[in-house]
Amino acid sequence: MSTESTKTEVGSYFISNYPPFSKWKGDHLDAVHTALQTPPAAETPLGLYLHIPFCRKRCKFCYFKVFTDQNAKDIEAYVSALCREIELVSKLPVMGERPFRFVYFGGGTPSFLSSRQLTSLVDRLRANINWDKAEEVTFECEPGTLQENKVKTLKELGVTRLSLGIENFTDSVLEENGRAHLSKEVYKAWDWIKGADFDNVNIDLISGMVGETWDNWKYNISEAIKLSPESITIYQMELPFNTVYSKDILGNKIETPVADWETKRSWLNYAYDEFLGAGYKISSAYTVVKDNNKVNFSYRDNLWSGSDLLATGIASFGHVGGVHYQNKADMKQYQTDLTEHGKLPLGRAYVSTPHQLLVREMILQLKRGYLDVGYFKKKFDVDITQQWKSEFKQHQDDGMLTVTPDRIELTRQGFLNADALLPPFFEAENQGIRYT
Ligand SMILES: C[S@@+](CC[C@H](N)C(=O)[O-])C[C@H]1O[C@@H](n2cnc3c(N)ncnc32)[C@H](O)[C@@H]1O
Ligand code: SF4
Repeated sequence: MSTESTKTEVGSYFISNYPPFSKWKGDHLDAVHTALQTPPAAETPLGLYLHIPFCRKRCKFCYFKVFTDQNAKDIEAYVSALCREIELVSKLPVMGERPFRFVYFGGGTPSFLSSRQLTSLVDRLRANINWDKAEEVTFECEPGTLQENKVKTLKELGVTRLSLGIENFTDSVLEENGRAHLSKEVYKAWDWIKGADFDNVNIDLISGMVGETWDNWKYNISEAIKLSPESITIYQMELPFNTVYSKDILGNKIETPVADWETKRSWLNYAYDEFLGAGYKISSAYTVVKDNNKVNFSYRDNLWSGSDLLATGIASFGHVGGVHYQNKADMKQYQTDLTEHGKLPLGRAYVSTPHQLLVREMILQLKRGYLDVGYFKKKFDVDITQQWKSEFKQHQDDGMLTVTPDRIELTRQGFLNADALLPPFFEAENQGIRYT
């Protein structure tokens, strides 16, 4: 049963950036333009994110910018704008001579596009960019959108890491949460995915979907182990403001239908134990991997170490030369900027101070499970064990991490509570404010 203190309330977020998105503003855009027009520091890795905002159905827990009512013409209009954006981006001085180290097709549901739409998109992108030297090309898929020929197309287009949103293996839970797919579509898709032989396949699960029980959760974990993907990502269900469930809780004053944090954490803890028993290793607070040498998580690790990320697509988030930015979130404005005005559809931005860049890297890397004290000394000339002595001591006293002069490491409790450990490292003015 939920208790007052651990209920999954509306407004809970996991932390993916710093300073909080609520601090990013439209009047900082000049700084983004300057950063984009400046040649890069040669050693900074470069990544590309492409956002495909379409889905078959809106899941009741989802907070992403997605559209579920678009026809082929709408999709072509979006894809054209995205190609135009890539063309503009490819000519920016910030690209320098750098090849893309990693590319990420995220959503929404990139696999919503048909094989034909995908091939046409990639053909047009290749007029301006390529990812031949990328160490990782990720593509997010929803199981029910896949067909055998689409999976083969993805492989041909150079996808190295396919990420499949399974979330849960029980149909009643999938239906209750508004997922568009059922379990039989997972198993069908799985055969095609295995047949295509991607370097890496990841599956997403969520601990705490509405209707989740201990029995159901144990079944999920055993099914996941049977599939034996290279990595498994487990999110703890959160309720940002704009989900269907959140609106029901706030508008209709219903009790939260999501299990409390303690229960979700014990499910995650059980999952870690089972996956470790099956030969997986914990690779971050959300991920277990089968073989650390094979799965390098280029997108995650580069992004969490301050790489540049060029963001394309509606509402997507980027980071260049220490400046954060987000594209416009309105579909008409996004397209008009590109196709009628020939300009980048930048929406809001934030210019980080050096201290904020340090905080950002440190909290993101802590989610990976450890901090290398020497890395921060070398890059920022700061001894993080001294800078945040009392914060680390408190977490250590609470059993969340261990501190040695060279390394800070999360304990199992620390992994289970990772996001809750981060706000104490925020600057005072960024604590306790709305995150997005
Ligand atoms: C963009 S979706 C993945 C691709 C595809 N759209 C799908 O859902 O199958 C990214 C992932 O975010 C996770 N997610 C979405 N909303 C969430 C929430 N409220 N709490 C926790 N995880 C969530 C889901 O695990 C989902 O697979
Ligand atoms: S979880 Fe995936 S499929 Fe569901 S609405 Fe969000 S982006 Fe679309």
